[in-house]
Amino acid sequence: MNRTAAMMALGAALLLVCGASLAEEPAQLYMLNCWGCHRPNGEGITGTAPPLKGAADFLKVKGGRQYLIEVPGVSQSALDDSQVASVMNWILQAFSGQQLPADFRPYTAEEVKQLRAVRMLEITKTRDALIAEMVSAKIRPPPSHSF
Ligand code: HEC
Repeated sequence: MNRTAAMMALGAALLLVCGASLAEEPAQLYMLNCWGCHRPNGEGITGTAPPLKGAADFLKVKGGRQYLIEVPGVSQSALDDSQVASVMNWILQAFSGQQLPADFRPYTAEEVKQLRAVRMLEITKTRDALIAEMVSAKIRPPPSHSF
């Protein structure tokens, strides 16, 4: 191998390593898997997907912690359990850091695995009930529309 070939091989190897680790970054996972519906800063799209700003409010009501993982966009994503844990922990910090309860325990791959195994029926009903709970506990004002 001459020097140029060696440098090129090294460059390719570096690119491979960096590229692979970059794809594991939660912001990257979000961009590739969730961004299309929830938008770059978690703004959501009216009528299509709710904003993720304030998603940590769900952690303050009973059943909300599991809801965040059982929701189909998350549980049925192409991500593996540890990627789901990492992207959800990132979403909560990045878009909802203000609402994050002080005693928040980050999701682990093991917890995600267990929650994902549960098939949530009646998604809209579950979501509406959790939001009604937030409204009655004065965590959120009453929503003007579903999302
Ligand atoms: C095809 C559009 C779509 C994609 C892609 C999507 N979601 Fe969602 N997401 C929704 C919808 C719609 C809801 C509301 C619940 C429902 O009806 O499924 C939701 C709800 C949520 C919620 C609960 C917040 C709330 O207010 O109900 C979280 C958290 C969430 N999504 C995270 C993600 C993550 C993380 C990804 C990527 C792995 C993702 N979503 C991909 C459409 C999407």
